[in-house]
Amino acid sequence: MIFTSFDNIGLLKVLNFLESHESEYLSGQDLSDILKISRVAVWKHIKKIRSLGYTIKSKQKRGYKYVSCTEKLLPWEISKNLTTKFMGKRIYYFDEIDSTQNFALELSNTNKENGTVVLAEKQTGGRGRLNRKWYSPDGGIWFSLIVKPKFEIFDATIIPLASSLALCIAIEKIHKIKVNVKWPNDVTVKGKKVAGMLVDANIQSNNIENFVLGVGINFKINIIKMEKLLENNPNFYGITSLFKLQDKVHRMKLFNQFLVELEQVFDDLVKRKKDNIIKKWSKHTEMFGKHVKVNTNRGTIFGVAKKIDSDGALIIKTKNKNERIFVGDVNLA
Ligand code: BTN
Repeated sequence: MIFTSFDNIGLLKVLNFLESHESEYLSGQDLSDILKISRVAVWKHIKKIRSLGYTIKSKQKRGYKYVSCTEKLLPWEISKNLTTKFMGKRIYYFDEIDSTQNFALELSNTNKENGTVVLAEKQTGGRGRLNRKWYSPDGGIWFSLIVKPKFEIFDATIIPLASSLALCIAIEKIHKIKVNVKWPNDVTVKGKKVAGMLVDANIQSNNIENFVLGVGINFKINIIKMEKLLENNPNFYGITSLFKLQDKVHRMKLFNQFLVELEQVFDDLVKRKKDNIIKKWSKHTEMFGKHVKVNTNRGTIFGVAKKIDSDGALIIKTKNKNERIFVGDVNLA
């Protein structure tokens, strides 16, 4: 099932009308007359609206009454409270998909509208960094964003840091808990992973045409089940779920706040305030000054994590020299 923020007009007519008259019952005939659609269409839309998780009461001879909203991240519900300039203005929503990242990459060949979002309630073939599998059951926030950057190609290495910083700030603001980042783009709470990110760039003649940022947030997932699936992974350091830490927050609030913060950090990149991002990111990491082990494609490097340089590389002080690392996994030694 796919929904977008720019179609489903009939369904939205019925839904919006019911919602704006939530204190009263509306008969199928009245809805049909007012909205100028057949009674059969009214009935079909109400069936669909209920299947999307909205509660609509019905009473014989009186009609239908809107009771409560859905918990699903439906595009039109997101749009209602979105305060961004361009992020998330176009949303593709799936109940289930193999990978939002794959769909967004495909889409980015034709649709390059800045800030387009592809999101899914669950993924059957979610992809993690370095070709790893990413488990994405119901209850998480799994989405990909198509971004057409206005910044220079040499700033692209900062994208993962900027994005994880944006999510870190969004979680702190919405959930009121302390959040950290872990190089290059994990987001952690109390040392456990709550979110991961992945960037696929489409570079043509030395220019970033667009990139697709994939974000996976463990919002309300079964941690015990998930940890069992992941415990043999060499980079596994524990996961946690945001809902477990703070159960009063709706997924939509966090999602919307993240888009706001992301727009802000990307704006900083356009304004050449890269150092600002690195400074803020560095304040949110717990690795600096600690003995770490970094798995890279050149083998494992042991040393002390020193800093992030202006290209987003991790600097590790080993016995003999400073190592600059662009790709890898870092963990406490
Ligand atoms: C990581 O390895 O930490 C990155 C995980 C990124 C997962 C997200 S979930 C939405 C998007 N679709 C995918 O297939 N992967 C990314």
